[in-house]
Amino acid sequence: MSTATVARPRVLAGRAARARDLAESLIGDSGDRWRHTAGVAARAAELADRLDLDPDVLVSAAWLHDIGYAARIALTGFHPLDGAVHVSAEGWTARIAGLVAYHSGARFVGAARGFAAGLAAFPDERTLMSDALTYADQTVGPKGDRVDQASRYAEVLLRHGPCSWNAKVDPMRGPHLRSVAARVEHALVGGPAAGLPLAG
Ligand SMILES: [Fe+2]
Repeated sequence: MSTATVARPRVLAGRAARARDLAESLIGDSGDRWRHTAGVAARAAELADRLDLDPDVLVSAAWLHDIGYAARIALTGFHPLDGAVHVSAEGWTARIAGLVAYHSGARFVGAARGFAAGLAAFPDERTLMSDALTYADQTVGPKGDRVDQASRYAEVLLRHGPCSWNAKVDPMRGPHLRSVAARVEHALVGGPAAGLPLAG
């Protein structure tokens, strides 16, 4: 499905509404990136509902996960870290900052680029909550359209090219993202989350 309009989550209250406002102030004029962000937030709201996760946390983190791309808050040029630093400076919880810092296998690119110490300032919770954020990001395309994880990953590798950091860490990040997708999809069909390891 191709989505030209900006999707909105069903539930948008409290912190999630504030997260949306902050994200809009930073990347609301970024076109496709904003459409992607809104799509991820909508996907996160669905996942929170179906997986019984706190929507206040998951949807807020979804709105904030890509704010580090905003030029005016860029510190390192590594968007998960720059986003987490800004989220933290704006008074958001360490948990939400950590979800932003480590979304979508950021630890692999972060380590390769020399930002492991910067990321270590934030908690890496490695739970179904962090899996759900990554899964939401990895099942919404660059224009906000719904895609499957394998297609999304292949598109990113193609778009960024064989010399990109994403390509360099593919041997670690690729299996990690596939493991995340497997865990979330297992949980979505009612399987016990404990039945799959969270180490990937
Ligand atoms: Fe994203």
